[in-house]
Amino acid sequence: MPTEVSRGGSVPCRVVVCRDCCCGSAKVTGVDHGEQTARLADNAPVRITGCLDVCEQANVIVVQPSSAGRAAGGRPVWFGLVNDPAATEDITAWVRAGGPGLAELPDILDLYVFTPPRRARVGRSVTPATPAARQLTRRD
Ligand code: FES
Repeated sequence: MPTEVSRGGSVPCRVVVCRDCCCGSAKVTGVDHGEQTARLADNAPVRITGCLDVCEQANVIVVQPSSAGRAAGGRPVWFGLVNDPAATEDITAWVRAGGPGLAELPDILDLYVFTPPRRARVGRSVTPATPAARQLTRRD
């Protein structure tokens, strides 16, 4: 299991896995949700979150940059419709390579990247963002 903080004091890349009303539920078929989470956790610290308010993209996974990646300009990358093992493997390989700010995003993952709607990012629209979504997009 990866550690939260490396010996050098840097924070590693982290993976946020949505598991709530849609992501990780029977509504998303053809995915072993437990295996997906376990596979991601083999490679980086994983945090399970409640609904991120983008259920149409289920299963949603957000990769947060390491401290080095953030310093290099990396920002959280949101992946949607991650519903097959190959996509999960591509994300884990990218995380192992350094993730946001440190490793170039493989072209194949462009198919899954999306920009969360403003409601999910900052919660200033008619539909308030979930607390989980707001936490993922803080700028501090
Ligand atoms: S359950 Fe994942 S975005 Fe709603």
